Amino acid sequence: MTNLLNTTPGIADTRPAAASTKTVAVRARGLVKTYGSGPAAVKALDGADLVIHTGTFTAIMGPSGSGKSTLMHALAGLDVLDAGQVHIGDTDVTGLGERQRTLLRRDRFGFVFQSFNLLPALTAQENITLPLDLAGRRADPDWLARLVDTLGLRDRLGHRPSELSGGQQQRVAVARALVTRPEIVFADEPTGNLDTRHGQVLLSFLRDACDDLGQTIVMVTHDPLAAAHADRVVLLTDGRVIEEITDPTASAIADRMLQLDTDQHPNPHPRAGSGFGSGSGSIQEG
Ligand SMILES: Nc1ncnc2c1ncn2[C@@H]1O[C@H](COP(=O)(O)OP(=O)(O)OP(=O)(O)O)[C@@H](O)[C@H]1O
Ligand SMILES: [Mg+2]
Repeated sequence: MTNLLNTTPGIADTRPAAASTKTVAVRARGLVKTYGSGPAAVKALDGADLVIHTGTFTAIMGPSGSGKSTLMHALAGLDVLDAGQVHIGDTDVTGLGERQRTLLRRDRFGFVFQSFNLLPALTAQENITLPLDLAGRRADPDWLARLVDTLGLRDRLGHRPSELSGGQQQRVAVARALVTRPEIVFADEPTGNLDTRHGQVLLSFLRDACDDLGQTIVMVTHDPLAAAHADRVVLLTDGRVIEEITDPTASAIADRMLQLDTDQHPNPHPRAGSGFGSGSGSIQEG
């Protein structure tokens, strides 16, 4: 795959010296987040701890509903927590007010939402440059062009989100998160709607952003192949980080996820051998 980042003049110079010295980019301790109250309450985070070093690529994995998106929102200061602390570098995010958190996000983070969160009234191009427009900054035309072309959005720039496919909307959301060249990129299943080719291009792009720019990447994914681009995989279940896999391979990740699934749902086929449609499954005809 072409290295798309280190060919841009001047970009390599912006790599923080901290990237090689294991500075902490994100530190989360004892995060608790409950949605709802009473019998309907859901503890989405239940004492999650996590440390992410500057200039590393971390994949967050875990079963659906394990709290991955809630964790990402908490790390990026998008949500108020019940308990726990998040530090971004030396900044205690949990101690900041709404406005300060907004400024922190604007100046230092890029966030790809699982549900894209594009503004329906704006074109693709306007959505991409929105973070810069809000900050009163102008887009670097070379960088914008590189993002647009890499993500294959050139011929869709004048269209609104409702006129784009799911994968195209996702690529617009990714471009919007990267346009400011943020210190930390939080990406919640950024390849979830992409075909293989666009998925690969995006993953290589994120890998290069980490290696060449010293950017810190935190990515949620269900895909072991995608997670294998990361330096480590953090496994979440029931709102807690339960383990980490360093220098992960796709097969090691797949094996571990399968094991996790078996641990969580033991003996899923009690009448193995009775065959599909025999009436032993949980899906009833009716
Ligand atoms: N706004 C909300 N209101 C009520 N419950 C919520 C809300 N957001 C999340 N939850 C619940 O919190 C738990 C964790 O949700 P979260 O979205 O963080 O899971 P996830 O690991 O990202 O799942 P997925 O892989 O399906 O995206 C789930 O049980 C979910 O139903
Ligand atoms: Mg999610």
